[in-house]
Amino acid sequence: MSSRNSDALPLLRGIERYRISSLHSNACYKIPSHGSFVFLKVYRPKRPAATYAVRRFLGGMGFRQPVEYTSPGERRAFEEKTLRHWKAHGFTVPDIVDNPLKELGGIPVLATRFIEGLTLREMARNSSRSVEDRSGELRALFTEVAARHGSAFAAADPLLFHIDANTRNILFAENAVYHVDFEMGRPWEPPVLSATREVLKLLVTLAEDLDPESRAPVMKIFRDCYHHDEVFQRIRTGVIDRPFQSFHRFSNERKKKRNPHKVTLYDLMEYLW
Ligand SMILES: Nc1ncnc2c1ncn2[C@@H]1O[C@H](COP(=O)(O)OP(=O)(O)O)[C@@H](O)[C@H]1O
Ligand SMILES: [Mg+2]
Repeated sequence: MSSRNSDALPLLRGIERYRISSLHSNACYKIPSHGSFVFLKVYRPKRPAATYAVRRFLGGMGFRQPVEYTSPGERRAFEEKTLRHWKAHGFTVPDIVDNPLKELGGIPVLATRFIEGLTLREMARNSSRSVEDRSGELRALFTEVAARHGSAFAAADPLLFHIDANTRNILFAENAVYHVDFEMGRPWEPPVLSATREVLKLLVTLAEDLDPESRAPVMKIFRDCYHHDEVFQRIRTGVIDRPFQSFHRFSNERKKKRNPHKVTLYDLMEYLW
């Protein structure tokens, strides 16, 4: 940990009781402030440490690296820029607010309004609700993704994609769909590639959270709402036109034997087509 981070250690210990469990290396907190809550994210080096160190080294040598492999300060700056950009273009993200813990000013942190809502994961895992019953929220999400991708393609705007669109990073609240967590991506890529990354992350994590019977009907709703054929085309060619098909199929089957819950790209193709 850098010296600035270690200076902040006693303070971070002091707010440990507000910590939200996070799968990632960042530390996230729900801090009470002026009668409501602030979501505070403290950016830290990514894990696994070895990969991160190699990527940081390559970045230092001038080799362009995906945002997720840049320094905590750069990731924070990218996330803030993206949140402001989405807001300016009318897309729903949490508002950036003042950091209630000024003492943490020396380390990379970002404070946003805490959104009290349901994650897409919680919604998808709640199999007591039928697909039909959840179709309103799903359509709202899929239609929003389609419209945003339309704007991004029209303006060749690399910031309007949510590359880490896993089901924990999408929230339903206040009759709106919120996207969070923008520390990932290759903003230099052609927009259709970024769109494909977003769609694949969204659909694979969603399918894994749904019970198997709900997967095909939910993917059908996606196809009803999302009409960017070039993205479907990319998915198809990326999966079935790859060389060494039998190797990929074999390794997918092996992954599924290890984890029966896993949804592979071949499974996704079957649900989508
Ligand atoms: N402003 C917010 N309000 C409420 N919950 C949030 C907010 N931002 C993020 N979250 C929740 O906290 C989780 C972790 O935050 P995230 O930004 O994804 O950090 P990381 O994935 O790096 O730990 C998200 O997956 C989301 O469920
Ligand atoms: Mg996240």
